[in-house]
Amino acid sequence: LKIERPATWVALTGFMGVGKSRIGRELARALMLHFIDLDGYIERETGLSIPDIFTHLGEETFRRLESEAVAELVQKDYLVLSLGGGTFTRPENRERLLARGPVIALWASPETILERVSRRPGQRPLLADTDPLTRIKQLMEQRRDIYRQATIHASTDGREVHDVVEELIEKLW
Ligand code: S3P
Repeated sequence: LKIERPATWVALTGFMGVGKSRIGRELARALMLHFIDLDGYIERETGLSIPDIFTHLGEETFRRLESEAVAELVQKDYLVLSLGGGTFTRPENRERLLARGPVIALWASPETILERVSRRPGQRPLLADTDPLTRIKQLMEQRRDIYRQATIHASTDGREVHDVVEELIEKLW
């Protein structure tokens, strides 16, 4: 039985709050693929929340766990994988992911990102700052050229999930 799909293994990257998890979940549904959110996967594997991992084990340990999880998950089949915002910054992850399938980068303005991450306070240790908008702009500047290395790009600013998913499916074919 062969089902025609534009892709059978897709990763989503982009800054915190661009919609990787929401869009990834719906994209997986539309393509009839499994869905895994990398942060959620790490939380289940370790039994710790992402903020707790940062606080008690440190960012370096988190990055190591993240890279290990990527190395495992590229071996699965029929998967849409939503990455954390920093996953793609590691060269070993970029290499593995780009070799495995198309990588989608989602984009949104710093203002939109601030609004979205503010809805769930305490969840983003890297933005636990007195001036999160400045921090978002700084980090975004540092990471822009990295996200640009993705295969496919789409903006999520002011758009409905299904609209973005439709655009992505067209671009994946
Ligand atoms: C991070 C993004 C987070 C999470 C961790 C670090 C980052 O994921 O992995 O807090 O470095 O940008 P989201 O992009 O899902 O918020």
